Amino acid sequence: MERKDEIKSAYRSLGKSHSLYDGMMTASTFIGRAICKTVWDMSPDDVLEYQARVFETLPADFSGRLLEVPVGTGVLSVPVWKTMPNADITCLDYSEKMMESARKRANELGVSNIRFIQGDVGDLPFQNSSFDALVSLNGFHAFPDKEAAYKEIYRVLKPGGTFCGCFYVEGSDANTDKWISGFYVKKGFFTRPFETVDSLRERLEKMYTKAEVTNINSIAIFKCVK
Ligand SMILES: C[S@@+](CC[C@H](N)C(=O)[O-])C[C@H]1O[C@@H](n2cnc3c(N)ncnc32)[C@H](O)[C@@H]1O
Repeated sequence: MERKDEIKSAYRSLGKSHSLYDGMMTASTFIGRAICKTVWDMSPDDVLEYQARVFETLPADFSGRLLEVPVGTGVLSVPVWKTMPNADITCLDYSEKMMESARKRANELGVSNIRFIQGDVGDLPFQNSSFDALVSLNGFHAFPDKEAAYKEIYRVLKPGGTFCGCFYVEGSDANTDKWISGFYVKKGFFTRPFETVDSLRERLEKMYTKAEVTNINSIAIFKCVK
């Protein structure tokens, strides 16, 4: 099975995640699918596609040190971490509550090569060049201090290390942008300023040796090498 198919099948196996948040992130519930369509103009296949595009950046037999920030409830990542038993995985999030679900999920799935740390992406509690890979899913549109986050992630990544992830970018879908401004920002789920696909590409190309940015509607997917 190709890596992308393995990842997609890991999500499918997640199945019936009943929390609103998890259902929305995986388009696995009726409400989740409705939100993905209405807000993001995405089908469940689009959702699987953008997530798989991020994870296929990492080799299936990845065995280095990996940092995921923010892990949230781990709904997107922990099933993939289960497929990498030789990796040394650290997950960080600001919210203990979100991470509680991630911890529970890791226990239930029997993922033991993983630790969870409460912290701030803008002030990471790690030495320079500590990680071989850094994964950030749907975090940058939420981080309050994005400049600090870009800097800290770069600092803790080893030269030659991989930085990959995805997040919302404005300017790709007017309807999504309206929802983000009218609801997500007002509710505090998302924080300005937002990147566009082009501004993100320009930023990452300046910072990293190699940078690739693609998008599916308003979600940008990036893969960089330091
Ligand atoms: C939209 S969720 C994404 C979570 C997960 N990666 C996913 O895709 O489901 C955003 C997460 O960012 C976390 N977060 C926000 N600001 C943060 C910060 N400064 N440092 C670390 N995590 C932060 C929130 O607690 C929340 O869990």
